[in-house]
Amino acid sequence: MSAQSTALPPTIDDTRIWDAWLSMFRLPILNVNAEAGTFRALSGRALTTEELAAELAVDARALAMHLAALCADGYVEKRLGKWRATALARTWLHPEGQGNWTGFLSSIDANQHLRSRLAESLKTGKRPGTVEERPANWEAGTMTEETARRIAAFMQAHSQAPALGAARLPVFGTLTHLMDVGCGSGVYGIEIARANPGLKVTLMDLKEVAREAAGYVEAAGVGAQVGTAGVNMFTEDWPEGPDGHFFSNVFHDWSDETNIDLAKRSFAALPSGGRIFLNEILMDDDYTGPFHAAAFSLLMLTGTLGKQYSLAEFKEILGAAGFVDVQAERSGGGYYSVVSARKP
Ligand SMILES: C[S@@+](CC[C@H](N)C(=O)[O-])C[C@H]1O[C@@H](n2cnc3c(N)ncnc32)[C@H](O)[C@@H]1O
Repeated sequence: MSAQSTALPPTIDDTRIWDAWLSMFRLPILNVNAEAGTFRALSGRALTTEELAAELAVDARALAMHLAALCADGYVEKRLGKWRATALARTWLHPEGQGNWTGFLSSIDANQHLRSRLAESLKTGKRPGTVEERPANWEAGTMTEETARRIAAFMQAHSQAPALGAARLPVFGTLTHLMDVGCGSGVYGIEIARANPGLKVTLMDLKEVAREAAGYVEAAGVGAQVGTAGVNMFTEDWPEGPDGHFFSNVFHDWSDETNIDLAKRSFAALPSGGRIFLNEILMDDDYTGPFHAAAFSLLMLTGTLGKQYSLAEFKEILGAAGFVDVQAERSGGGYYSVVSARKP
């Protein structure tokens, strides 16, 4: 390839906005873990996540998300699968330390709501709160028009930069028909369609959200190329014809078991040679960061049934459904990567 063909065109980077948003986790995770005893426990010896979870009587899956965020910020480190507190944490966050900051940090934490949600989910491993407190009740498979409008508007802002990044990946030019599953406002399907005028795109979501996406298609002027489908991806038949399924920020909402089911549904609906795409912010394979991914994972822990995955974990999930050639590429749109795999 020539240097010209591999160079990236300019794109929009919104990572500073994400950093501002996700920085809200920095102080509460210190307070929650000081209170749970994480820094004291890891000051004396190295422990695996499971050993530490047993000692602190907390949920191991949730603890792994906390440790990744703490590691990314330099408070703990992981060697050969075992965690230890760093000198930073042993000096300043140990309850018997001469310079123990934890009392002060606790007293100035203004976000008690987030702190208590993090503390509760660390103990139970489950999203706290009632159905009414959630931004959307996706498990119900239905929502009001007003909720659908709010979700689509938020997802449009949240996903615009990474949609521009994903759209310029050459792989979409090799497809004939792409379905954007759980499309939200449809920003990904719309941008990928704009970048690939020969590609047909279907935006699929619950019917209330699909109706909202239709409005975004009209506003973008891509109605000849992009259609919508109101389909519950868990309970209804999927439209036939696409040779690519694109899921953005969908797998991070659900459990491993649900995601294996979703991957199997995609596998069954794709033709041989068809491709699945997962657009996500990836955890490092050893689950030690980076901070933006670990913090986003804590947001999923406290608000959904899911988490942010590593490529290694996606390889397991997609492999369990029969997909091969699992790989990931950072798209250049914000913090996102596009994971792709093929149906043999
Ligand atoms: C986090 S949003 C992601 C939206 C969009 N893909 C993006 O990245 O901007 C998850 C989407 O999954 C959709 N969803 C949830 N349950 C669904 C179901 N059972 N069938 C189809 N879509 C569903 C939601 O309505 C929502 O639009």
